[in-house]
Amino acid sequence: MHEFDLDPEEVRRLGHRAADLVADHCATRTNGPVFGKVGGGAAVFDEPLPEVGCPADEVLDAAREHVLTHPFGNSHPRFFAFINATADPLGTVADYLASAMNSNCWGGDHAAIHVEDRVIHWIAEILGLPASTEGILTSGGSMANFTALAAARRAKSPRVREDGLVGTLPLVVYASEEAHSCVDKAVDLLGMGTRQLRTIPTDERFRIRVDLLRKAIEVDRADGLRPAIVVGNAGSVNTGVIDPLDELADTCAREDLWFHVDGAYGAMACVSPELRPLFVGLERADSVATDPHKWLYVPFEAGATLVREPGRLADAFRRPAAYLVHDPDGPLVGPVLFNERGPELSRGFKALKVWMGLKRHGRKGYAAAVEHDVAMARFLAEEVRGREDFELLAEPGLSIVNFRYRPRGRMLEEADLDRLNRRIANRLVASGAFFFAPTIVRGRTWLRIAIVNFRTREDDLQALVDEAARAGRAILDGD
Ligand SMILES: Cc1ncc(COP(=O)(O)O)c(C=O)c1O
Repeated sequence: MHEFDLDPEEVRRLGHRAADLVADHCATRTNGPVFGKVGGGAAVFDEPLPEVGCPADEVLDAAREHVLTHPFGNSHPRFFAFINATADPLGTVADYLASAMNSNCWGGDHAAIHVEDRVIHWIAEILGLPASTEGILTSGGSMANFTALAAARRAKSPRVREDGLVGTLPLVVYASEEAHSCVDKAVDLLGMGTRQLRTIPTDERFRIRVDLLRKAIEVDRADGLRPAIVVGNAGSVNTGVIDPLDELADTCAREDLWFHVDGAYGAMACVSPELRPLFVGLERADSVATDPHKWLYVPFEAGATLVREPGRLADAFRRPAAYLVHDPDGPLVGPVLFNERGPELSRGFKALKVWMGLKRHGRKGYAAAVEHDVAMARFLAEEVRGREDFELLAEPGLSIVNFRYRPRGRMLEEADLDRLNRRIANRLVASGAFFFAPTIVRGRTWLRIAIVNFRTREDDLQALVDEAARAGRAILDGD
């Protein structure tokens, strides 16, 4: 046996040790600070490339001591930063199994391909897209948006793969000012040029102004440009807002534009019959990006691109390579060639954790979990509204709440309020009791709480507001 290999009993023993570490990690997740800052401990990682190896148990010990002790923190009920979900432990188990299989998921008639194909169908069904919808799992929402926009670019500029965009009328992309920065990145990487990305203002509820979108399209057409793609938000990253998707779909139909929906954060909420009506129009999208690693609570990474019209992804990504071409009658042929639906050839078995999660919890289980997060956000908004020293930015559309400390009876300039709230956030995060990141909305700083966390309870949120008030008072008192 090669020295890299382990006999099955040793694999079992190490696996049991790893399972113990995982269970201990779960059991102790609320003992330490939410965010496991490495800080002064970084020196332990500053070691030379090992010339010779050491026993596996020693490596596991090092992982236990130096790595597992400093997590990002999203397993903790008081983690509210960015949109980083807490993970379903079953997903951890799934990742272990997937890694043991070490499947390469570009194509072929092996189980992983069928699992991913099924997962794509299930996600399309959750979103209300037709059964013929095609898709692919990606590393996350950024890649899911990129992949969808690549299909859109090709659909709107059929010779783009051969000719590039040189010498053609520029394609124009429209998205609201609340769109995620990955849209900007994708427009750049796809060569469409960020100058051709129109940032459309939003209304008082941070939803895209469809009237201004229509005007912008008109102006671009009159200027001889080619309006091509509209990106709608199904849960914007900053405020959790859903654009009027039905109106966007109408506009795209009328103007012959590709309608893409960035639902990386929010679209999976369609799993809930209670929340589904918020997304009317999503089912008319040409493409959707969504993230199982957000509201399906699978461990990182798993995003998904869904494209309504069969063949559009292959149009953008098919690249025959001699060594990958196989006899259509051969034993290898599977249901999908995923390397023809995205930029990657070698791909891991991300689908297993999504498949296992959907089988374990079912549509109803996920609906309840997502509804819980939305209920927690509404509870927090209510809590903030009930306190005279706090201000709520807006009613939460989904599970993001923006609020700020604004003590009654004290006249503070906006810039002072910004500073004060940043200091409150820094204090609370540095204390280790919470992890969240403030944000800027229309130029002002807000404490931004994103709840994609089935572990969060009302008392966690009450404690957050209590501590924010205490920190605010202490800062103003010069502590
Ligand atoms: C609306 C939206 N789009 C895109 C992304 C990017 O997704 P990812 O971080 O999975 O790449 C996010 C991330 O939070 C998001 O909220």
